Amino acid sequence: MKQDFLKYQAQTSALPLNMEISHAKGSYIYDTSGKDFLDFVSGVSATPLGHNHPKVVNATKEQLDKYMHVMVYGEYAQKAPVDLCKLIANHLPEPLDKTYLTNSGTEAIEGALKLAKRITGRSEIIAAKKAYHGNTMGSMSVMGYEERKQAFRPLLPGIRFIEFNNEEDLLRITDKTAGVILETIQGGAGFIEPQNDYLAKVRKRCDQVGAVLILDEIQPGIGRTGKLFGFENYNCTPDIVVMGKGLGGGMPIGAFTASTAHMDLLMDNPKMGHITTFGGHPVIAAAALATLKEITETNLMAEALEKEQLFRKLLVHPLITEIRGKGLMLAPIMQSEDIANTVILKSQDAGLILFWLLFEGRAVRITPPLTISKDEIIKGCSIIISILDDILES
Ligand SMILES: Cc1ncc(COP(=O)(O)O)c(C=O)c1O
Repeated sequence: MKQDFLKYQAQTSALPLNMEISHAKGSYIYDTSGKDFLDFVSGVSATPLGHNHPKVVNATKEQLDKYMHVMVYGEYAQKAPVDLCKLIANHLPEPLDKTYLTNSGTEAIEGALKLAKRITGRSEIIAAKKAYHGNTMGSMSVMGYEERKQAFRPLLPGIRFIEFNNEEDLLRITDKTAGVILETIQGGAGFIEPQNDYLAKVRKRCDQVGAVLILDEIQPGIGRTGKLFGFENYNCTPDIVVMGKGLGGGMPIGAFTASTAHMDLLMDNPKMGHITTFGGHPVIAAAALATLKEITETNLMAEALEKEQLFRKLLVHPLITEIRGKGLMLAPIMQSEDIANTVILKSQDAGLILFWLLFEGRAVRITPPLTISKDEIIKGCSIIISILDDILES
């Protein structure tokens, strides 16, 4: 299978990890040789309840038995997506009450950018340097990393970049700006948190000039930072919140939520301003609904903060310079990129899954399932520390 994987399935990099998967359950992934791997990555923040959580699996199966795709998005009332949108609204502050469901995070970003243009009648979008919002043309246009997008130009015109956490740059948001798009916590950049009430200041500037604030919660959202949405930690409510990844509990999804008055603008002038065939798919929505219920009805979010403290206590080592991030979105920063690479690759040999961040080579991604146990955290961290000890001694 490994050879066919390389031969027939398009690759994203020359050296994929190429682990041959048999099955996955809870915090573990099993390969076809029977070896188990403790998962500190959660499919890059996409399986907050671990693998094959029974409630997610049952909800998916029940919906499969009833019906799958019956109609394009937005025509028929289907219980799972309706209940999902209602539950999202119940957990968001006013006036964020209407949700558009998509198939992926990047599509939700595309929808949010279009909506900002419709709300304001303006076209300029301000994004952050080192931001990552997805890989379709619009999302890539607001990616703050020239090296990764140069080859795909021309991209969207009218995009300007500011430095995340730089207050002086906020003056670049003007009455020409349709929308400001930011990750609540910058992910690919190295799990950079907003500092000194930065997001509240962005909010204020957007209000001054009539620009729409879009917060990308695709990675920090759905409980990972101890709150359902990361922005709840930072004294700021966006006009449009974008979700994805963990919302699906392991199924592909994206969503963007705005006020009814704003969201309804996409229906007209032009007619059907945003349409999709599979967005809001009932089977995916059933999985997402079960995931969201479990996260909001249990203690998992509060526990995420306790587990963060355990990680911080255990991951103390001379080769780790700091640990960035919040809750179960953590990035130990190694002294060098080489060390980070060695830790990630050797961990896999030792039965622990770690991963890289897109633009910060010294970072090691730790985004385990919210359901991870304290014993599992202790086990995984001891693997990391012993690899670091070996590096130090060699
Ligand atoms: C912050 C952020 N925005 C957007 C995306 C794109 O989501 P997707 O890969 O589902 O298109 C990602 C994916 O990594 C992300 O981390």
